[in-house]
This record gives sequence, C-alpha cells and structure tokens, in this order.
Amino acid sequence: YKTIEDLGDLEGKRVLVRVDLNVPMKDGEVTDTTRLKAAAPTVKALADMGAKVIVLSHFGRPKGEENPEMSTEQVVQEFANALWRKVTFVPATIGPRAKESVDAMENGRIYVLENTRFHPGEEANDPGFAADLASLADAYVNDAFSATHRAHASTEGVARHLPSAAGLALSKELDYLAAALSNPERPMMAVVGGAKVSTKLDVLNELINKADKLVVGGGMANTFLLAMGMEIGKSLAEPDLVPTAQEIMSKAADAGCEILLPKDVVVAEEFMAGVPTKVRAADEVQPNEMILDLGPDSVDSYAAALEGCKTLIWNGPLGAFETEPFHTGTVELAKFAAKLSKEGKITSVAGGGDTVAALAMAGVTEDFTYISTAGGAFLEWMEGKELPGLKPLEK
Ligand code: 3PG
Repeated sequence: YKTIEDLGDLEGKRVLVRVDLNVPMKDGEVTDTTRLKAAAPTVKALADMGAKVIVLSHFGRPKGEENPEMSTEQVVQEFANALWRKVTFVPATIGPRAKESVDAMENGRIYVLENTRFHPGEEANDPGFAADLASLADAYVNDAFSATHRAHASTEGVARHLPSAAGLALSKELDYLAAALSNPERPMMAVVGGAKVSTKLDVLNELINKADKLVVGGGMANTFLLAMGMEIGKSLAEPDLVPTAQEIMSKAADAGCEILLPKDVVVAEEFMAGVPTKVRAADEVQPNEMILDLGPDSVDSYAAALEGCKTLIWNGPLGAFETEPFHTGTVELAKFAAKLSKEGKITSVAGGGDTVAALAMAGVTEDFTYISTAGGAFLEWMEGKELPGLKPLEK
C-alpha cells in the first residue's frame, strides 16, 4: 500500500484524513477512546509535517440526514485529548462553509469536519459527493481500517480523486492481520465464537482452509454438537444449519484442519445471572437444560492445543460471557492466551466488539499481541473478502 511518504512534501498541503471517530458514548461521554488514540499518530505526523489536516469520519448511522445526536463535534474534545493538540470543529462536511474554513487554515492545524453520513452521497458512494470532498484537499490519507469494508465516498470514492495513502494505524493493522492469517507462523489456531453459525459461515469456510486448529465456540458450537448427533436440551442452536455444520466438518477434515468442540459444558435451566449451574459432559445435557458456557475440561484441552501453536486469531466469545458466571470459559482461555503471548510463545490477534469486551473483562487487553480496532471490517477480512477501502491505496 502507498504510505504517507509516497505523498511527497506535505508542507502547506491540505490533507484529508479519514479516521474512525465512531466511538461508543454514554450520557454524552466517550466510553472507549481506543479508536481516537489509534488515529492520533497519523494526524500528529501530518500536522508535524506542516500539512493542513482535515479530519473526516462517520459517526453512527444517521441515514443521510443531519442529526445533532450524531455530530462529530461531540468527540472533538476527546480527540484533542488523545492528540494533545488543539482541534477545531467545522460544522459542515462539504460546501462553501467547509471550503472557507479549510482555505483559512494555517499549516500544522487540525480541523474535524461534520459527520460524512449526514449526506446521502456518503453511503451511496456518489461520485459528486466524493468530488466535493476531494475539492477540499490536495491529498487523502485513509487511517480507518474499521471502515474499509464500506465502499463509501469518504473511504473509497474520494481516494480515486486525490493522491492517496494508507495511514500509520491502517498499515500497522494490516501488518498484524497478515501475520495472523495470511502469513502465520504455524501451527495456527483460530477461535471463532458467537451466537449463530449463520453469521459466521463465511468465516468458518475460510478458516478451515487456513487454520491448523479451529475452535468453534459459543452458541455456534451447539449447532455443531447437534450435527454430531448429541442432545442439547433447550440450548440455542440453528437446527436448519445441521447439514451445513456437517459439511464444514467434513471439508475441514479434508483440509487437515482440526475442529475443536466442547467436551464438557456449563448448563443451567434458565439463562440468568447467578442461577444454579452444572458441569456436564457435552453428550449428557438434559432436556430441561441449556448450554451457556464451555466447561473446565474444554478450557484445558483448548489451552493444551494452543500451547502447541505459534499463532492465534480470535473472533467471538465462547459462552454467554455478558452474564455471570457464563463468562468463565472465555475469560480463562483468554488469560491463558495472554500468558503465552506475554512469554513470547505465540502471536495473538483478536478483533470484533464482543471479543474485545470479553478480553477487557479478562483484563488481558494489554497482553495480546494486537487487538484490532475493527468490528465488521475485521470479520470481512477474516472471511477473505476484498475490502473496498483498501483497493485505491494499493501501490
Ligand atoms: C464500526 O464501528 O465497525 C465502524 O465504525 C463501521 O461502522 P458501520 O458498521 O456503521 O459502517
């Protein structure tokens, strides 16, 4: 991919930088600044080069209409804190107001434009809107990996009008993702969890050809247990997908990928915090019980399998981790993976909103080799899909 250096001398140049300011908020406060911190090095580097830095981002899903609750203004102060720089908000994305503001910028200054999704042309990737954005600048830098799965005007269209490059966070993200999936040190283990097989079919089909070991966890594992002829009581599952699960298992066997499923499970009669639980062998679940987590023997066997690996890629929790005590399996395996990472024995990469929340719960966010800032983009990348935002940045 083209880098900022490929853009030449940027002193006095107007540079549009697409970052992802789409951060979680509660009661008007940003609750997770990870994405703001990730975007800071590129923005600072450009400002230090004397560029006029014009920051672009979406926020939420306002569906092409102005909505004060989704203004990028509300994250500007936190962004300034992450940058340790003064940041000015411009209450327009395109048009005379945006143009006048950027024309008056001094070198090294940082301006943040209003939410790109206030314009229907953003998600439609309208060439006119992309050209309007491009008219504000001399160059374009994309530093929002987490938005590269969207073929939108600010991620794809605008890059076709201006000299373009990948920012530092985007490049770093791609390097780590490549080290985990495209070019991993083997053996490589993939952990895929989550509630439903239907949302992870493409990932599973991709990973059976790439991973040496594949842990299938969460509600998804129940469908696989069904596919192996086990009774799963009242557990969440997708019986329609039993033939699909069987097919995945047989393709995995042909590809030499070992699928790991729970040997024992934690069950309860209802899904609620603090209810009485039992550990059962996976083939001894009773009709009135539901599987809500993996059991201790499963954690031990996955840990033993991971110990023989050099690379781990993880997307999705292994149990109903948001409700105690069903976080235990996910947390225990995460802690073990973090320990191996800290000892330098494995490269560990994780991504996706729930996954990152589960790792934070385990207190191991710092110990993983790399945690992706992306949700949907991470998943699409694991599915082996081409990310439209990356295409125009290729050398
Ligand atoms: C994300 O939060 O995953 C990105 O900001 C993309 O947001 P979107 O799913 O609304 O496009």
